[in-house]
Amino acid sequence: MIFFSNRRKHISGNDSNSNVESISSRRNQISKLEYGTSIAIGGGKGGIGKSFLSSNLAICLARLGYKVTLVDLDLGSANLHTVLGINNPKMGISDFLQGRCSSIKDVQVKTEIPNLSFIGGFDDQLNIANMSSEDKDRLLDSFSDLDTPFLILDLGAGTTEHTLDFFLYADEKILAVIPEPTSIENAYRFLKSAFYRQIILSDSDIGIKDVIDQVMDQKNALGIKTPADLIQHVVSMEPKKGTELLEIIKGFNLHVLLNQVRARRDIDVGYSVKSVCRKYFGFNADFIGYIDYDNAVWQALRRRRPLVLEYPSSNLVGQFLKISKNLVKPKSIREVG
Ligand SMILES: Nc1ncnc2c1ncn2[C@@H]1O[C@H](COP(=O)(O)OP(=O)(O)OP(=O)(O)O)[C@@H](O)[C@H]1O
Ligand SMILES: [Mg+2]
Repeated sequence: MIFFSNRRKHISGNDSNSNVESISSRRNQISKLEYGTSIAIGGGKGGIGKSFLSSNLAICLARLGYKVTLVDLDLGSANLHTVLGINNPKMGISDFLQGRCSSIKDVQVKTEIPNLSFIGGFDDQLNIANMSSEDKDRLLDSFSDLDTPFLILDLGAGTTEHTLDFFLYADEKILAVIPEPTSIENAYRFLKSAFYRQIILSDSDIGIKDVIDQVMDQKNALGIKTPADLIQHVVSMEPKKGTELLEIIKGFNLHVLLNQVRARRDIDVGYSVKSVCRKYFGFNADFIGYIDYDNAVWQALRRRRPLVLEYPSSNLVGQFLKISKNLVKPKSIREVG
């Protein structure tokens, strides 16, 4: 059974120097998928397997019979088509943004995999450094024209504002992490930035931007060190704002996906990240599953073939299928950690 998102609106952001007022005036401008679920795969660190995970998850969902659109949002170094094993599509997001076609559907191409279509990324002229906030909003808004039950967004590394906004747009946010200290560190940094950005962009103008700025400064006199401290501070000082803040946090649908597991004890990292979310961020995250490290991954990549198609008997196929089945289940009956 698919769980559909009925939320129509997303809160629009602006440039980093914009104030809460200008953000508030532009909010509610971006439409969400009306009858579909968007899933973003991010994680801060480069090279941890975000593209590998998003492409193989997309293929598994498609093979389960769902129509899926996979989008390359790794601005500046779009190469998801290679991981997916298809030629670089002739048209992509840049063509849509530069007005060379009128609809995002014009750059959505069918793949050889039944039920799976693909939207290619950016060319060298347009990348994350020179994409305007207006273009970003227009792109996110255009996704609501896609008639797709599942929209999967592969994000680039880093915590730039656009990447955070792509992550926050998604109904389901997957945090990819590998069991290595640098990946865990980057995942927290990414989550913290996304968390504060979500609050700033929130529909409820709760007026706590000044406090957030102080927190981001790390030099605040309030003794606020973690997002959970921030929430506690707001709840105790201004209960009404605190309630609104708690509502926003409740809507932060986060799933931890652990990649490159080499030993049983690595799996504990998934549970640790989950408990850190509770302790430091004040929300519950799911540990949606893990994928083993396997040499078959780079071997498949060298052959320009997706792993789940090239090595159908690999253990990883079962792991991807389990995660995919979990994602399509209603939240209440998911098998998560
Ligand atoms: N489970 C795995 N087992 C073995 N190798 C893996 C696994 N996951 C990813 N890799 C390898 O890690 C490398 C990086 O993967 P990928 O390009 O998907 O990362 P990424 O997070 O999308 O990177 P970027 O941030 O640069 O886009 C690839 O060479 C891939 O083959
Ligand atoms: Mg990638």
